[in-house]
Parts: sequence; structure tokens; C-alpha cells
Amino acid sequence: MEKLVITGPTQLKGEVHISGAKNAAVAILPATLLIDGICTIENIPNISDVKLSCEILEALGAKITWNTPNEITVDTRNITTTKAPLNLTSKFRASYYIIGAMLGRMGEIEVGMPGGCKLGARPIDQHIKGFEILGADVTVEKGKIYAKGKKLKGSNIYMDIVSVGATINVMLASVLAEGTTIIDNAAKEPHIVDVANFLNTMGADIRGAGTDVIKINGVKKLNGNATYSVVPDQIEAGTFMLAAVASKGDLLIKNCITKHLESITAKILEIGGNVEDYGDSIRVWCKKRPNKASIKTLPYPGFPTDLQPQMGVVLSMADGTSIINESIWESRFQYTEELNKMGAKITAQGKTAFFEGVPKLYGAPVYSSDLRAGAALIIAGIAANGVTEVYNLEHIDRGYENIEEKFRKIGAKIERIKE
Ligand code: EPZ
Repeated sequence: MEKLVITGPTQLKGEVHISGAKNAAVAILPATLLIDGICTIENIPNISDVKLSCEILEALGAKITWNTPNEITVDTRNITTTKAPLNLTSKFRASYYIIGAMLGRMGEIEVGMPGGCKLGARPIDQHIKGFEILGADVTVEKGKIYAKGKKLKGSNIYMDIVSVGATINVMLASVLAEGTTIIDNAAKEPHIVDVANFLNTMGADIRGAGTDVIKINGVKKLNGNATYSVVPDQIEAGTFMLAAVASKGDLLIKNCITKHLESITAKILEIGGNVEDYGDSIRVWCKKRPNKASIKTLPYPGFPTDLQPQMGVVLSMADGTSIINESIWESRFQYTEELNKMGAKITAQGKTAFFEGVPKLYGAPVYSSDLRAGAALIIAGIAANGVTEVYNLEHIDRGYENIEEKFRKIGAKIERIKE
């Protein structure tokens, strides 16, 4: 078992380089299945969810070459099976993208029910509804999903819920369908635009990604033979922005798209932090105890649920009582119990949590319940007095590349220790 041992407090200072977006990469990799050719993907984050996506592609017959730690070439000319390995697909959430991509490419697929972070109920009814409207038959039984639809036909699909996964998945299934598909009430996250840009680079005809209506004109074939660079990770950038505030530090966060960070910038300014926006990098610093705030997580461009725990750390030390309303996931406050072990005073009731700000947190052994909870606990350990041990690192390694090295370079006293 591994743990991170953090000795605080440290005021983080210096420059940090943001990696490619996990949630774009784990969709772009399955999207390569739609290509009858070879493509190269740059700025791939070297994280365990990406490695798992690659293993699934390889099990389906794709050939993957790592050219550098952050660049791969994928050859999907020879797909040999329509059965994705159940042990791999049931390990993480994004394996559901294999369904949309393989329906498009092969007209058939069997996968395990997607796993992933335990954030409460994670239904996929909107994905299935979309596939069925395009003409596929979908059966879910005994932990498996079986989808078949040899000749998908473009259609109009209204999403009952704004869903990142369903929007991308239906987009994947409709790229090679006959005719035009319109996805209404689509999600607008930057990674949706990125997947559409990737597919368009390979020959697809997708318009409107980034708005709530996406139009996909089906094409006969995607050719590949192109190189694509994954968008910078908005959530990783936001994690370091909030780490700068929580530690009363001063960070220059490089290789990000600051337009994607507006909701976080606005909240940091509201609580008394400082932000300087340079377009592709952003400086964040904070010299005083932050003010209280009220936050509601929302789909993009609202405040992202994936930064809620990191913001929770900041508010746990703010002056006054803050409220966070988590509107996306039903159980994303598990980290608050861990912060309370460090001296925070947080009461979580269902989807709402009250943060009675304390002047200081104190080091303690804590357990990360999911990816972003893990990032939040690292930030808490850096800001806290004394030694914090963070356990369950497998969650953190799923989505953050070289996290302790990046924090160490900006001054954190953090070590990964094997027990
Ligand atoms: C994506 O999950 C991200 N994961 C999550 O990131 C992120 O928290 C979430 O979007 C919201 O931004 C990936 O991209 C791999 P949704 P996804 O479908 O697509 C409900 C992280 O830490 N819903 O947008 O699974 C659902 O229950 C992770 O990086 C349905 O009811 O999320 C939720 O309440 C964790 N039916 C809401 O919609 C459906 O068919 C939004 O979920 C689909 C979703």
C-alpha cells in the first residue's frame, strides 16, 4: 500500500505546467475506434485511466505505440472482436464510450457495466435512450451491456438531463450513421468540444459542440492520418488555483485555457483572492484568510462539481460560514468527514454542506474516497499544521499526472511512501 506523507504548512510558490485533460483523453481514445487508420495523439495525460483505456483498445485489436510519455500513436485498422474485456471495462466510468464508438464502427458491442468513482447513483439511461433513437437494440443484464445496430440512422435526440457522458457517447455513435443527428440540451464542457474537434480533424462533420445543440452530419468514413493535441485539463488547473488560495501562496499556472476557468476565477475573486489572466496561463495568489461564500455546482459554464472538494478545503478555513450545494452527484461530500479529522467544522446533509470556517487545519491520517476528494486532501495537508498521511492513492493516480512531483516543485513537502 502507498501513502502520501505531507508536512505543512507550506505557501506554494512558483510555476506549474498543466497536463492534457483526463476527461477529454478518455473519450478521444475510444473515438479512435471510429477511424479506419492511424492517428497520433499529443498532450495525453500519463495517468492510470488513460492506460486502462489503451488496454481496452488493445484488447479490441488496436495497436498502440507510446512515442513519448505524453504522445501515442493508435492504429485501429484491424479491430478483431466486439467483446470488450469485462474485467477492464467495469473498472472505470469512461468505458461507456466504447459502446458509442463500437456501435459506430462495428454495429455491435458487449461491455461490462461501467465502474468509476463512487459518487452516488450513476445511471446511463440517457446514453441508452440516444443509442435506441439512432436504431440500436440495447440490453442490460448480469452486469453487462449488449448493444447492436448494424445500420444506425441519424435522428433528433433531446437529452432529459444535461450529461457529459451521454452527449459524447451519442456523438460517437452518430458520426458514421446515415443522415443527420441533432442532440438537443447537450452538455457544453470543454472536453465535449475537444472530442468534436478531434473527430472533425479525422474527417467527421460535427457542428455546434460547446453549445446546447450539436448537429452531426453522418460521414461514410474517418481516415485518420492526422495528429491531434488534447486540450489542457481545466480541472487540474482549477485544482492548482485553489491550492494557491488554500496555502496562501502565489502560483503561475501554465498551459491552461483561462476562458475555461472563469467560474473558478470569479469565486476566487469573490472570497478575496487575486487572479491575473494571461490567456494561456493564470497567476493566482492570496495573502489573507479567504471570505465565506455560497457555491452551487452546475454543468459548464457553472462551477464544476469536479472542483467542489478542492473549494471545500478553501472554505473550511474561510472567515465565516459557507454553504456548498452539490447539484450533480448525490454523494460527493465524503471528503468532509476526512477534513473534520483535520479540525474542520463541516456538516453535510444530503446534497448540502455547511462549512463553519476554522483558522487552521491540523495534520491527520485521511482516506481519499474518490479522485477529487484525494486532490482536496492533498491541498488540505499542504495548508495544515503538522503531518498528514493521505491513503487510497489509486483514486488520485487515475486522474492526476505526477501529482506529488508537481506539488514538490512548487514547494510542498510531500513524499510517496510504500508501506
Ligand atoms: C463526467 O461524468 C465526468 N467523467 C465526471 O468527472 C464529472 O463529475 C461529470 O461528467 C460532471 O461534470 C468523465 O468525463 C469520464 P454526467 P459523467 O453524465 O459523464 C445524471 C472526475 O472526477 N445522469 O454529466 O458520468 C448523473 O447521475 C469525474 O473527473 C443521468 O441521470 O457525468 C448526474 O447526476 C467524476 N442519466 C448528472 O446526470 C444518464 O444517462 C451528470 O452526469 C447520465 C447522467
